[in-house]
Amino acid sequence: MDGSSEDVRLDGIFLELQFSTMQVGDEKHLVISLRDITERKHTEQEIRNQNELLRLSVAQAEQANRAKTLFLANMTHELKTPLNSMLGYAQYLNMPQLGTLNKRQTEAVSSIETSGRHLLKLVEQILEYSRMEAGRIPLDRSNCDIAGLVHQSLQSFSTICKSKGIELIEDLPTTPVRIECDQTRIRQVMDNLLSNAIKHTDADGEVQVSLLEGTENILIRVKDSGAGIPAEDQDRIFEPFEQSVSGRSRKREGTGLGLAIVKRIVDMHQGFITLQTMEGSGTTFTVGLPYH
Ligand SMILES: Nc1ncnc2c1ncn2[C@@H]1O[C@H](COP(=O)(O)OP(=O)(O)OP(=O)(O)O)[C@@H](O)[C@H]1O
Ligand SMILES: [Mg+2]
Repeated sequence: MDGSSEDVRLDGIFLELQFSTMQVGDEKHLVISLRDITERKHTEQEIRNQNELLRLSVAQAEQANRAKTLFLANMTHELKTPLNSMLGYAQYLNMPQLGTLNKRQTEAVSSIETSGRHLLKLVEQILEYSRMEAGRIPLDRSNCDIAGLVHQSLQSFSTICKSKGIELIEDLPTTPVRIECDQTRIRQVMDNLLSNAIKHTDADGEVQVSLLEGTENILIRVKDSGAGIPAEDQDRIFEPFEQSVSGRSRKREGTGLGLAIVKRIVDMHQGFITLQTMEGSGTTFTVGLPYH
């Protein structure tokens, strides 16, 4: 019994009953003390109520998020079919079998095609992102030479760099660097980062890609001498549909989903992505990927 305690409730008042013994000379006394703990009990109950409310809100938010993801995935799929058909007919109009178009008609058909392709890319990116969010795109990992993969991505941008007057610098190891990854997805990461770097760099600028072998991760660095990203936009741009203010003039060229997809893919590989940039002084994205 010594030092023991018990909580008692009396007409809405909570009391803590404590028992202890005390030796006074030859006599042993039983000491009973009562403490009003009503306020503490009410606070505890309030915390329990708030936790329950929070749990319910989280469950509701997760449910709403799942419904949104499913809606987006189904909706974008339904949009793609008629859109592809419209693009097909726009191309068909350009064929000689239907007669020759005059200059203004050709321009109008070309506008339909350009806007249609932009919309198709947007729809495909939304579909892909919502599938990734719903965990419906599992990784297909295999052992690959990441240096070779980065090299191939770089090569696919060499023509556009030449035509824009941008120097593309390749700083990769000469021997293969083997890691476990989903090659298609990592190629997508590289293509996205390189297309951004090239899009935001003007003539006479440069884009440099390097690969470093760390102890636990390999680091791929995509560095450009372009427009840079203002500090207030640096976190936002990894969110879907977010574009930087400095990129506003080039906004129509993209959907704002590229980096959100890149981040998802890197996260799925248990890797990381960091950004170093200053407005007007270029941008460097660094992707870290574990070897296994
Ligand atoms: N290398 C870069 N230099 C300057 N700004 C950049 C760079 N990379 C990304 N950004 C900014 O981040 C924004 C988001 O990039 P993200 O790749 O997600 O979208 P996007 O390129 O606009 O469209 P998408 O990739 O979907 O076609 C861009 O709109 C741009 O403002
Ligand atoms: Mg992009």
